[in-house]
Amino acid sequence: MKTFQSFSPTDAYHEATKHSWLSVRQRSGGLDWSTQPSVYKNYPADLPRVSLLEADPLKRFLYRVAGITAKKSYPGVEYYLRTNPSAGALYPNEVYFQARGVEGFADGIYHLEVASSSAVLLKPIDESEGLEAALEDSRRRRGLLLFVSGIYWRSSWKYRDRAFRYVLLDAGHLLGSAEAAALLWEKAYTIRYRIDREGLNRFFGFGRKEGILSAFDMSTPEEAEVRLPDGSLEQVDPTGSFEPDERIETVYRASGILQGCKEMRESSSLPFDKEAWAEAIFRRRSIRQFSRRSISKEEFLQIFRWARAPVPSDCDEALELYCVLNRVEGMEPGLWRDGNYLKRGDFSAEAGYLCLEQDLGKESAVTIFMVSSGKNYAPLYQKAGLIGHRLYLAAEVQGIGASGIGAYYDDEVREFLGSEGKILYAFAIGH
Ligand SMILES: Cc1cc2nc3c(=O)[nH]c(=O)nc-3n(C[C@H](O)[C@H](O)[C@H](O)COP(=O)(O)O)c2cc1C
Repeated sequence: MKTFQSFSPTDAYHEATKHSWLSVRQRSGGLDWSTQPSVYKNYPADLPRVSLLEADPLKRFLYRVAGITAKKSYPGVEYYLRTNPSAGALYPNEVYFQARGVEGFADGIYHLEVASSSAVLLKPIDESEGLEAALEDSRRRRGLLLFVSGIYWRSSWKYRDRAFRYVLLDAGHLLGSAEAAALLWEKAYTIRYRIDREGLNRFFGFGRKEGILSAFDMSTPEEAEVRLPDGSLEQVDPTGSFEPDERIETVYRASGILQGCKEMRESSSLPFDKEAWAEAIFRRRSIRQFSRRSISKEEFLQIFRWARAPVPSDCDEALELYCVLNRVEGMEPGLWRDGNYLKRGDFSAEAGYLCLEQDLGKESAVTIFMVSSGKNYAPLYQKAGLIGHRLYLAAEVQGIGASGIGAYYDDEVREFLGSEGKILYAFAIGH
């Protein structure tokens, strides 16, 4: 058993933000709608914009990363859903990219503006400067280099201290969305966490509201080194309202200090039909209710194998997927991990209870818990989000529903699984 003193700051954050039966019931207060943050960041209208609503492969790629794919209307409320899911549809991340030597885009640094489906040119770059300078290998790179940031108040407005977990999971979904689009385009990629976050945050002029989390690198290096562009960009308010959260700001800083990172050089090729995959990217939604129909063993294994395939990155952490099999034809119900049963029996009611009593966990064909004992919190949590994205799309492509589940009783899940690791994410798939 660990003593409290041996906890790292990220362990301490994870511990402090666990849900329990009691903590959920003791929570006071509803949402303060008057301080609801904006889910869109928009740079000034006079900056040059490139529309992404065109049939060009690069523009399509960018649209697939975070484009709007549905509109929901309720009396008095209208909101838009995107290719990427987000806990509570609060979208606490932004995407920026650098294009160098890329057709259709002047060399420069851009913001992916979701509300207008366009890329906004924030700053043109020359051959001596660029965001590569914030990577470990600061040689000039040709191609696309994406950066994902987190804006915690968008999520902490609702989820309070636990929000940093969602900021990371949602960032992971964006990386997963970029992966899905890169695979379709047949472009190689790697995810980078070993980046100079502070240098980038200064350059982007973020202040305390926003911070860089990761990079999705589709570029190739050249010989010469570059430096970060001089000065910083004009600060643009990404939320409207703001309430600082010291605990989240502390864990953000701590999560940027990485130790003993292992590189994953293996990449994965798409195991699905490309046309069906392209459709799945646009059709993907979170299922709200299951009808309790089974899925087949082959369908489950297809989804599972894709979730387990290597994720190329510069700081790979091992993740375990514990699967509660509820309704899979040809497989006995039980708790299953990588081909072996840890317990046999019908645990569907328990799985529903563990997911904060949500029916999604009970009525699914399979409820999955992602667990890790890794030390590098930001990479391992973003990897969990990316795997969640693979689960969504691999289910969708086979006509199966799916939903991420960020709310669960942490300690009770650990006890049920018989695991000492951190519970990072739950996930339900089924009909
Ligand atoms: C990290 C994460 C956690 C989520 N947790 C839950 C959850 O606990 N319960 C639930 O019903 N939906 C959950 N969702 C689904 C979101 O509500 C959904 O993604 C959002 O409303 C946008 O809808 P869409 O996925 O159909 O685009 C979660 C999604 C993500 C990405």
